[in-house]
Amino acid sequence: MTRSNIHDQRLLVIDFGSQYTQLIARRVREVGVYCEIYPFDIDNSALVAFAPRGIILSGGPESVTEGATPRIPEGLLDLGVPVLGICYGMQAMAVQLGGAVGGSDVREFGHAVVEIASNSRLLQSLDLDLNRGLPVWMSHGDKVLSAPNGFNVTASTASTPIAAIEHTERPLFGLQFHPEVTQTQQGVEIYRRFAIEICGCDGVWTADHIVTDAINHIRDLVGDEKVLLGLSGGVDSSVVAAMLSRAIGDQLTCVFVDNGLLRKNERDEVEATFAPSNTFDVKLVTVDAQDEFLDRLKGVNDPETKRKIIGNTFIDVFEREANKLTDVAWLAQGTIYPDVIESAASQHGKAHVIKSHHNVGGLPERMALKLIEPLRELFKDEVREIGLHLGLPRELVFRHPFPGPGLGVRILGEVCRTYVDVLREADAIFLEELRRADYYDRVSQAFAVYLPVKSVGVVGDGRRYEHVIALRAVETVDFMTARWAQLPYALIERVSNRIMNEISTISRVVYDVSSKPPATIEWE
Ligand code: XMP
Repeated sequence: MTRSNIHDQRLLVIDFGSQYTQLIARRVREVGVYCEIYPFDIDNSALVAFAPRGIILSGGPESVTEGATPRIPEGLLDLGVPVLGICYGMQAMAVQLGGAVGGSDVREFGHAVVEIASNSRLLQSLDLDLNRGLPVWMSHGDKVLSAPNGFNVTASTASTPIAAIEHTERPLFGLQFHPEVTQTQQGVEIYRRFAIEICGCDGVWTADHIVTDAINHIRDLVGDEKVLLGLSGGVDSSVVAAMLSRAIGDQLTCVFVDNGLLRKNERDEVEATFAPSNTFDVKLVTVDAQDEFLDRLKGVNDPETKRKIIGNTFIDVFEREANKLTDVAWLAQGTIYPDVIESAASQHGKAHVIKSHHNVGGLPERMALKLIEPLRELFKDEVREIGLHLGLPRELVFRHPFPGPGLGVRILGEVCRTYVDVLREADAIFLEELRRADYYDRVSQAFAVYLPVKSVGVVGDGRRYEHVIALRAVETVDFMTARWAQLPYALIERVSNRIMNEISTISRVVYDVSSKPPATIEWE
């Protein structure tokens, strides 16, 4: 399998701004077809150069009934490749080909059962009940009122008579509902049918092929030169390390910085996973910089200043260490596809939120290194799958995200060593009990927070005034919005009892019941 093979057969997802656009791309990848997301204003030459086997038009928040709203790029519908419009994408296709779209008084949002016509080419492989009903997820205000000439209506509900359309001869399809969300049953099958059968792709985008392809590509690119990687112990940098280790072995040096703000056992785990005698043949350098980080954080209360100090100290320590390695030509980074989309969107002025990442940004130029980003094309779930494929431990691959500034932003205000030590223990107790109760994988992120406020407690006959630990656990898909996790009271009680019994300087434990928005996931 050469690099070009697995990328050759590719689909293009045109983004009209739906919150589900990335989900569409993930579904297409899940059925084994490579795809990329481009904004709706992609120019014609880029469209032609991309040479997609098929195109999917996403949904979007706007209305095609208003003049200046996004339209399907010129020439796209005439490329001759299959096009599938979802929601806004279908409505745009309908109006641009001469049909009619109108608003409705009530927004249809939620479950619906659509009746599927027997002549649908797109939906014919679904397993339907006797009434040809398919449970789907709807989320729209506008709807297609009349299909353009040459189109059949292939699905309907009582409130949305035109819930799917197909051209009788050309490979043009529209769906009012969202097959990319799990609430639509057999949604993945709809994407499989479109990508594999209608667009004629072979389904070669699999973990096995992706790894082989990446390894070949890395070897071609790097040759016998040396590569440096800042290993954080998180999923992305660990997968980069595993991948580079497979590709170039000990041409890779990983630098792991112990900033004194790590979780319990984190350093040991990283060292054990990448120990020389282990599966991964890399050079691992651990830098103990705890004192340097904690010294620089003394007396600093402001969260953003703390973040900056931690980020800058990391760069200083990393650079100092890297300069000891005289023959390095490349710097590896764990950038993943959503980061690429986000930064492209921000250049287009479309990004809503950009996280202030603590990474090695700017370092390649400063150190005059070439940049290698082996995960640049991959979604997080693909990164995880590949991590498992490469032999990384499951606990590492499915670990909750941990912010770059670490426990530094989980101690409110000034960070000092005694607080970090206490927080590390409390956090470990919480995570241990979550794992024991089988809740770790059911929440998206869970951690303890140190609140340096004095609260009264009673021990024996005496009163004591000690600090507070807050427990935070959330459920989320994209970390942009999140719901506090409804953990069982018995579990919270166990965690609270253990923290207060095992850590003498904590007098009170509270559970955070704030969702995002308006709260954020982290406390700082
Ligand atoms: P918030 O608190 O903004 O967090 O709701 C959303 C996600 O981002 C993580 N996070 C960070 N990650 N550097 C990082 O690398 C940071 O400064 C940072 N702040 C928040 C957070 O843990 C959550 O997963």
